[in-house]
Amino acid sequence: MAETIASLRSRYRDAARAKDIDPRDIDVLLADATGRSQSWLFAHGEEAIDPSSFDALAARRLRGEPLQYIRGRAEFFGREFYVDDRVLIPRPDTEHLVETAIARAPGGGRVLEVGTGSGCIAISLERDRPDLEVVSVDVSVAALAVAARNARRHKSHVRFAASDALDAIRGEFDLVVSNPPYIPAAEVETLAVEVRDHEPRGALTAGPRGTEVIERILEARRAPLVLLEIGFGQLGDVRRVARGYEVVDVVNDLAGIERVVVLSRHGRK
Ligand SMILES: C[S@@+](CC[C@H](N)C(=O)[O-])C[C@H]1O[C@@H](n2cnc3c(N)ncnc32)[C@H](O)[C@@H]1O
Repeated sequence: MAETIASLRSRYRDAARAKDIDPRDIDVLLADATGRSQSWLFAHGEEAIDPSSFDALAARRLRGEPLQYIRGRAEFFGREFYVDDRVLIPRPDTEHLVETAIARAPGGGRVLEVGTGSGCIAISLERDRPDLEVVSVDVSVAALAVAARNARRHKSHVRFAASDALDAIRGEFDLVVSNPPYIPAAEVETLAVEVRDHEPRGALTAGPRGTEVIERILEARRAPLVLLEIGFGQLGDVRRVARGYEVVDVVNDLAGIERVVVLSRHGRK
């Protein structure tokens, strides 16, 4: 049954507010469903539309599903990546890791990423530094399928492989980069419903300490330089498991939180 745009917006925006969901998400989805801009919808509130194509999208968002999964896309480092619930949604904080890798990777070097997800790190790095040979691994074959789709979209030459940490990968690299699952398992239950109930558990946590994958990357000792994204307050834990590596730099995110750790095997900057 037809309903005016104003009535539909107000009904769903109220429902969103009642669930602590940003009501602007409703406008984004309504624009997607109608093919109209948000400003057009706002200016034409008196027009009647058939809400049927929109109801299913809104219901998903009201159940807590992240907007990016519903829309099938997320922005990262100036590019659009396809995402669904097989992969973590790329976070703006992770752009610091890519910036650091772009600045630190030696010319013509070999780079290994551990934990591909959507492929956003490896593809962004390779597209901005085409001189690099980039290999990216994930234990999740489902995630690798999403990454391959994004690589095709962005004409990227990253080589993807299935591997549990570095187990299936041979040889030395100039740089290992990773945004690993770093949340201690017990903390996952405290996360927002969008994250806890919708993003892949294996992308969030690897065990009780939160540093399990980090430990495996450092134990493998495959590169003189390792760049890691870490969680709030995790720098001390990383120092404790660093073994033959030394922390030579830390990059803060825009909120001033220590976010990227640069580790050198020989203590070099
Ligand atoms: C935090 S997500 C990062 C995804 C993506 N690189 C990004 O920054 O958006 C961590 C990724 O590591 C993968 N992963 C978890 N444990 C792993 C392991 N033991 N070996 C390889 N990859 C692993 C997960 O499947 C997930 O895709």
